[in-house]
Amino acid sequence: MNFEELLATLADGKFHSGEELSNTLCVSRTAVWKQIAKLHDLGVDVNAVKGRGYRLRQSVELLSLAEIYRHIDDKTCDTFDRIDIELAVESTNRMAADVKVSPYVCLAEMQTAGRGRRGREWVSPFATNIYLSLAWQFNEATSSLDSLSLCVAVVLARALRRLGCAGVGLKWPNDVLIGNRKLAGILLEASGEVGGPIRVIVGVGLNVAMSRGQGQSIDQDWISLNEIVAEPLSRNEIVAAVLDEMAMALPGFEEKGFSGFEKDWREFDCLTDRPVVLQLGSKKIDGIARGVDATGGLLIERGDTLTVYRGGEISVRPSK
Ligand code: BTN
Repeated sequence: MNFEELLATLADGKFHSGEELSNTLCVSRTAVWKQIAKLHDLGVDVNAVKGRGYRLRQSVELLSLAEIYRHIDDKTCDTFDRIDIELAVESTNRMAADVKVSPYVCLAEMQTAGRGRRGREWVSPFATNIYLSLAWQFNEATSSLDSLSLCVAVVLARALRRLGCAGVGLKWPNDVLIGNRKLAGILLEASGEVGGPIRVIVGVGLNVAMSRGQGQSIDQDWISLNEIVAEPLSRNEIVAAVLDEMAMALPGFEEKGFSGFEKDWREFDCLTDRPVVLQLGSKKIDGIARGVDATGGLLIERGDTLTVYRGGEISVRPSK
């Protein structure tokens, strides 16, 4: 028996007795108990009640390759060499970096050391959100990867629009927001030789059903997708939509860079014409955001001067 089988049985949120689990999974009751204890150690909220058995306090929809493939376009299936779903990993970006296949997709139900930008932790509770990393190899001829983070943000916005989510906005360079609250983040990590192909890990964290309690350590305003939709969305369907959009977008980005994303960026950009503070290393720059230039650089107006900023450790926040 493995965690996956046990979880699939418990996913309905109903009580299952030790005896039932040991019969269904063909293991001893002690083995069941040990696996339950491991789930507990991973932070999975298992409730054990004497005389009734075990249950997950909340029913969950587990990620499933069959479900993802059921919703994905045929063309997308051909795009990815391999898609893995893990129960728990340190970080899907880390796993995608270790697996030397491209294009490769790694998904996990939870991350024990999820990574955010600027060394932050990415809070990754069990079976509530999407933690997805995609490894893609760009050849030497790809002009510039500077605007890739904007392209991925547009991919997420397009996927969410397709799923019927209204009010999605993008904050340069790659935060996905709803009403100024962070819904999703993107972490790009690249490796390769100068002048050679570059393998990029595109890490996407998307809050779907995280409760306020689960996200209490997050030090910025955040939102879960299910807070704004009438009916809870299926994580498998969301993953399929994201992979479809990635599979359509990345070859175009490889060929033409940001130009195929500029129009959509402008549509989703939620900073344009707002006062912003730009953190550039230890320097802070006040100005008015004026959208992006043709290469995805952020335009900031200060007095009569329009300056373009790009890449690196730049952060942007609406000023008070
Ligand atoms: C950000 O700080 O905005 C970026 C967050 C990126 C989180 C995702 S979750 C999947 C992938 N694995 C990680 O460890 N990080 C990224």
